[in-house]
Amino acid sequence: MAYSEKVIDHYENPRNVGGFDKDEHGIATGMVGAPACGDVMKLQLKINDDGVIEDARFKTYGCGSAIASSSLITEWVKGKTLEQAAEIKNTKIAEELALPPVKIHCSILAEDAIKAAIADYKKKQAAS
Ligand code: FES
Ligand code: FES
Repeated sequence: MAYSEKVIDHYENPRNVGGFDKDEHGIATGMVGAPACGDVMKLQLKINDDGVIEDARFKTYGCGSAIASSSLITEWVKGKTLEQAAEIKNTKIAEELALPPVKIHCSILAEDAIKAAIADYKKKQAAS
C-alpha cells in the first residue's frame, strides 16, 4: 500500500496528539471504532461558551490513514463552530489525504469521531 505524502506527513508528525480531562468544562469526547478493522479513534474538543472549538486532541489506535485522518481533523475543527465542524465530510478528508478506496473507512472513522464528540457535548449541556 502506497501512502500519499500527506498521510505520511501526518503519520510522522501527528498534530495535537493527546487528550484533555473529560470532566473539565467545555470538553467533549468522541470515541468511535471501525467495524471493518477494529481500529479505535478518540477525539476531544475544547469548546468555549460561544460554541466555538478552541482546541482539539486525538488518540488513535489504527493504521496510518486513520492516524492521518484524525490528525487532519484536529487542525480543521479549530476555530469552527459546532455546526461548521458537523459539516466536515469524510469525502473531504479522503480527498485531502488522497486515500485509496480500501482506506475510505479510516476517514469515515474521523467524521464519526467529530459527530460523537458533538453529541457528547450536547448531552453534557442538556444535563447541566
Ligand atoms: Fe486496522 Fe488498518 S486495518 S490498522
Ligand atoms: Fe481501519 Fe484504517 S481505520 S484500516
